[in-house]
Amino acid sequence: MNIFKDSGHLFKFAACFVIGFLIYLGLRGFVVPKTFGQYGHYRGSALKDIAAKPIKYAGHQVCEDCHTDQATAKSAGKHVTVNCEACHGALAAHANDPTSVIPVKPDPLVLCARCHTATAAKPKDFPQVNIDEHSGGAPCTMCHTNPHSPAMGAAPAAGGAK
Ligand code: HEC
Ligand code: HEC
Ligand code: HEC
Ligand code: HEC
Repeated sequence: MNIFKDSGHLFKFAACFVIGFLIYLGLRGFVVPKTFGQYGHYRGSALKDIAAKPIKYAGHQVCEDCHTDQATAKSAGKHVTVNCEACHGALAAHANDPTSVIPVKPDPLVLCARCHTATAAKPKDFPQVNIDEHSGGAPCTMCHTNPHSPAMGAAPAAGGAK
């Protein structure tokens, strides 16, 4: 075979590739977790690891079963679509043991501003205000007295913040 004359260096070169590939396969078998690819391009057993984490959110139905006053107020007002834990944070620990885990009441100035601070990025029809001009540092609940059903344009309540 004339074409293989003087081709020894090519075979050596090819052998290097083959050996390299075998080393790669060996290392890969060692490094890649066993359940990788079981369901898709991720470690299958990760699902079990995640499911084993403690539950942090109770879900609003659970809160509403006990706190019927707040649930009723909310269902009639503008915050009907905002669920309890969006404002109160994850409270599964409280829902499981309401008398020993007492949630702190959210600070309205911080909480309300998180959603209602005016920015150009928000949809125009979302109610938003320039916090400093609008409240001048007064707590939002001084005028919008019920955070669960924020009324528009209430006069400042006598005696200040509720
Ligand atoms: C099993 C009944 C129960 C469930 C479920 C429950 N709570 Fe409570 N919650 C209570 C009780 C009872 C208190 C009063 C505790 C105390 O003051 O001793 C309380 C207190 C609170 C307080 C503080 C009230 C205050 O005056 O400082 C907040 C806020 C609150 N709950 C929010 C929630 C939210 C949000 C959820 C849903 C994640 C929830 N709760 C689920 C029974 C429950
Ligand atoms: C828009 C934000 C927001 C949502 C949504 C919300 N809360 Fe509140 N909640 C507050 C704030 C702010 C306070 C503190 C009011 C204060 O300091 O007087 C509060 C206070 C409370 C209190 C203490 C008693 C009271 O009425 O002041 C309870 C109990 C409570 N919330 C339960 C709930 C439950 C249950 C839900 C869901 C049905 C819910 N909240 C949804 C903002 C919210
Ligand atoms: C998690 C986000 C969120 C937080 C926190 C929040 N809000 Fe809201 N707020 C909303 C949404 C959503 C609406 C309904 C918007 C709509 O109807 O288009 C709303 C509506 C309102 C409205 C009615 C505006 C109108 O044009 O009728 C007022 C007033 C208001 N919120 C005040 C408050 C106050 C005061 C607080 C703090 C106690 C607060 N919000 C906290 C999301 C939030
Ligand atoms: C001194 C009373 C007062 C305080 C304090 C106050 N508001 Fe208001 N707010 C009003 C009145 C009155 C209106 C209705 C007239 C208007 O749009 O300015 C209103 C309207 C709003 C609206 C609806 C705006 C729109 O364009 O639909 C939002 C959202 C709002 N307030 C959020 C807040 C937040 C958040 C805080 C706390 C940082 C706050 N308010 C503090 C009196 C107050």
